[in-house]
Amino acid sequence: MIARVENLTVKYDDFTAVSELNLSIEEGDIYGFIGPNGAGKTTTIRVMATLLLPFAGKVTIAGMDVERYPEKVKPLVGYMPDFFGVYDNLKVWEYLDFFARVYGMEPAGIPSKINEALEITKLEGKREAYVDFLSRGMKQRLCLAKTLIHDPKLLILDEPASGLDPNARVEIRELLRTLSREGKTIFISSHILSELADICNRVGIIEVGKLVSEGTMDQITKQLQPGRLLKVRARDIEAAARFAAASRIVLSSEMKEGCLLLRIEDTDGVAERLIKTLVDSGAGILSVSEEKPGLESLFQKLTRGTVS
Ligand SMILES: Nc1ncnc2c1ncn2[C@@H]1O[C@H](COP(=O)(O)OP(=O)(O)O)[C@@H](O)[C@H]1O
Ligand SMILES: [Mg+2]
Repeated sequence: MIARVENLTVKYDDFTAVSELNLSIEEGDIYGFIGPNGAGKTTTIRVMATLLLPFAGKVTIAGMDVERYPEKVKPLVGYMPDFFGVYDNLKVWEYLDFFARVYGMEPAGIPSKINEALEITKLEGKREAYVDFLSRGMKQRLCLAKTLIHDPKLLILDEPASGLDPNARVEIRELLRTLSREGKTIFISSHILSELADICNRVGIIEVGKLVSEGTMDQITKQLQPGRLLKVRARDIEAAARFAAASRIVLSSEMKEGCLLLRIEDTDGVAERLIKTLVDSGAGILSVSEEKPGLESLFQKLTRGTVS
């Protein structure tokens, strides 16, 4: 367990921004912290990054309490805020050098760390460029380079892809995959769900300060949509639909874009029985595949409270 948030409650005066929140992040996770604007993501993240007090509950990073040992927690965490400041007349390498010194790194070791950080974020060619003149995507990558400079175990990234164009988003995603392969644990927030669906192994969904769901994508999918969803293509789709309904195996059935979507129980043998019935029906089955709903539709279900 690299990070644990237990019963976290954070108030701004009388307003409760985060309420009794529990999270656990394992070493090696790419954990997606997902929720609409104002849900309490940044608040939670700032507590985890030792930047926000007071709070109720307990938050530990690598077993260390962020409230009692912030100085021990800081070196373990690479925090990327949701904004990028203004850095008049600062060059890319100077920016990284500045933060390396803030982290109290051994000066002799700094240039090689800067090189590594620039290399992994593909900014080698921008070493002498002025920070304020970088594109938005490059600024985000530089911000990531900054969070890597002291070689933290855990990266806490607050909406790193927000405001980026699709290409720059893809670049950030690839970068996160690379960092994960290199052994970093990544905790990343977003309000854009599809952005995280295929890179995260675990997700937590937060809504008005409360965690509404947590688990692997598979677990969340199952929780929201019990059973399995099979997508059937057939020469005679109407006939396939009739046979499926008559089989009494199907929990629900729906026609979508010329295909038949059949929900069935997730029990051994049920899919096989259904497929055999359909093939034997003579409806001309062309293909049967399993449908995985996108994170977007799951999220909408969750936050609309229409879990069925
Ligand atoms: N400094 C603050 N003072 C008062 N309210 C705040 C402050 N920061 C955030 N909030 C409120 O707390 C809630 C959660 O905010 P935040 O953690 O920034 O959410 P998110 O990052 O998910 O958009 C929002 O309603 C926001 O308006
Ligand atoms: Mg935020």
